[in-house]
Parts: sequence; structure tokens; C-alpha cells
Amino acid sequence: MDDLELATSRLRLRRFDDGDLPLLTELFADHSVRRYLAVGRMDRVAALDFAAEFIRRSEGELSEAGCGALALTRKADGRPIGYCGLRPLPDRIRAVELLYAVAPDCWGNGYASEAARAVVDWGFAVLLIDEIHGFTRPEHGASRRIMEKLGMRYRGDTDRYYGETLAFYALGRCANGSNPA
Ligand SMILES: CC(C)(COP(=O)(O)OP(=O)(O)OC[C@H]1O[C@@H](n2cnc3c(N)ncnc32)[C@H](O)[C@@H]1OP(=O)(O)O)[C@@H](O)C(=O)NCCC(=O)NCCS
Repeated sequence: MDDLELATSRLRLRRFDDGDLPLLTELFADHSVRRYLAVGRMDRVAALDFAAEFIRRSEGELSEAGCGALALTRKADGRPIGYCGLRPLPDRIRAVELLYAVAPDCWGNGYASEAARAVVDWGFAVLLIDEIHGFTRPEHGASRRIMEKLGMRYRGDTDRYYGETLAFYALGRCANGSNPA
């Protein structure tokens, strides 16, 4: 688990380290990123605290549940550009939530889709997760498009998590066609 790394043609996903704190702080302090995440307004200091807690939580989830958010870096220059991963859902055992965020200056290059594909395949083929769920604000076209490209099916809107109504997408292991590695 310590050497956990997922790779795609352009990206690497690995556990967070302290060097990822500045990027995560930037992400959470940026209104254009935060507006679609279930986090409230925050200044830089609050974003730094939130980023540190995000890393701690992800590390805890990786140790306890085997899955969590991973740092997303670009192979070409090694730059951390965001995160992508799977997070346990509080009331589910065999279903997890898909997460992703990319630095705004890197949007539109297919990075989130590429990372999410690798993470979904990891979840089904290696972790043997039964279902991957995704939640997004209904008006978030880019996030919906990413989940649709992954083959996730829209199952309607739900207010089950995050205290707001979100579009709910899901994909099962059999439908993904992933076989155990
Ligand atoms: C959502 C986010 C991860 C997308 O990252 P990205 O690397 O630009 O995404 P990709 O380039 O892989 O794919 C985006 C897809 O959505 C499409 N898209 C972009 N804006 C869109 C819109 N307003 N409506 C519909 N589709 C849209 C793109 O054309 C692309 O689809 P395509 O490959 O068929 O052309 C990024 O904008 C982000 O980090 N946002 C803030 C955090 C966030 O919203 N996270 C998800 C929370 S649910």
C-alpha cells in the first residue's frame, strides 16, 4: 500500500505527501474549484487547514479502507495538478464515491477523465469494489460528462449526502467489465 501508484499515459496517481499542501490549498481557496465542492467559503488560512485535513482524512481512509483520494501529478513535468480517488461512503460497505479536482489552468485537457478512468479500474479490478457512485451539482456539466464517459449511469437526484440535492451516478463492477487483476 505504501508504494501505491496508478499510472496513465500522461498522469501518475500516488499517496499525498507534504509537498502537495500548496496545490491543495490553492485548489480549495479558488472559487472556481470550490463552487462545485461541498465546502463553504474560505480564506487562504482556512483553505490551508482544510487541505491538511483533506490529506489526513485521505491517508486514514487509505490505511483503514484501502481507498482514498490520491495526488494527481503530470508525468511530463512532475507537477501536482489535482486529486482523484475513491472515498468510502458513510452508510455503504461495498460502494464508494468517486472524487476528482484539477487545477483550473489545466482544465480542458482530459486529465480528470484520464485519472478517473484509472481510478475506476483500480477500484473494480484491484479493490473489488461492487459499485462506484458519483455525486455532482445538477448544473455541473463537465463533471456529469466525465461520469457519463466512464459509463456511469444517471440514477436521478438525491439529497442523501452533503445536505443538498445532487445528481447521482453509479457504475457496477460487472457493467464496467473489470476483471480482478
Ligand atoms: C470538473 C473538472 C474535474 C474537470 O476537469 P478537466 O480535466 O477539465 O476534465 P476533462 O477535460 O477530463 O473532461 C471534461 C469534459 O467535460 C466537458 N465539459 C466541459 N465543460 C462542460 C459543460 N459546461 N457542460 C458539459 N460538458 C462540459 C468537456 O468537453 C470534456 O468532455 P469531452 O472529453 O467529451 O470533450 C474540473 O473542472 C474541476 O476540477 N472542477 C472543480 C472541482 C470539481 O468540480 N470537482 C468535481 C466535483 S463533482
